[in-house]
Amino acid sequence: MLITLSHIQRLYRSDEVETTALHDIELEIAQGEFLAIMGPSGCGKSTLLNILGTIDRPTAGSYRFGEEELTKRDEAALARFRRENLGYIFQSFNLIDELTVEENIELALVYRKIPKAVRRERVARAMDRVGIAHRARHYPSQLSGGQQQRAAIARAIVGEPRLILADEPTGNLDTENGTQVMDILQTLNDEGATIIMVTHSPSHADLAKRRVDMLDGQIVISVRNAI
Ligand SMILES: Nc1ncnc2c1ncn2[C@@H]1O[C@H](COP(=O)(O)OP(=O)(O)O)[C@@H](O)[C@H]1O
Ligand SMILES: [Mg+2]
Repeated sequence: MLITLSHIQRLYRSDEVETTALHDIELEIAQGEFLAIMGPSGCGKSTLLNILGTIDRPTAGSYRFGEEELTKRDEAALARFRRENLGYIFQSFNLIDELTVEENIELALVYRKIPKAVRRERVARAMDRVGIAHRARHYPSQLSGGQQQRAAIARAIVGEPRLILADEPTGNLDTENGTQVMDILQTLNDEGATIIMVTHSPSHADLAKRRVDMLDGQIVISVRNAI
């Protein structure tokens, strides 16, 4: 199994209130899966994705990635883990406004000690794959939403991650651009990347290989799509 979550719990505590964002989550994800996560606002989807991305830690439970127990790793080890294994795509793109498209993408490689020439070549390849090469020198504000999301996908994949985490990647896009983003994600999955995507779109969830529905911090349904 690529990922095994068991008894994952995430509590948020403040002085007054305690919120159980995740409640005893059990989830296994195999290499090569394309999983869609659905559920109403506030049910814990982003919390689950953040824990899978190790940018948040569970308050209880175990997260195994391959043979590694990640809940026992310190922050430096997790940063390395993220760099080597993960690509993130967000609803609001999260590109850096002051950098061009190619600079945004290249930034994902800067901490990897990859020679400049190799970096350049990989950035060019990532831009080609999502059809954004003609906007390489543009700034995010000069791009449409669809183009920004494709640039963000190029940034997520330039390090050739095994796992892509996408939190409502089509949530801010019109139908046509949403379809383009889904086409790209399906191609990446066909090429071997494991994808976990939160979505509110039933038709986009149907394009995944499996769907889980969440409610009140729990997984209530898991179905394998017939594709
Ligand atoms: N930093 C936080 N502090 C306190 N409560 C939080 C925090 N982040 C999320 N929550 C709560 O956890 C629950 C799940 O939130 P979230 O994972 O963002 O849901 P979703 O992505 O499904 O809309 C919600 O009740 C939310 O209010
Ligand atoms: Mg969310």
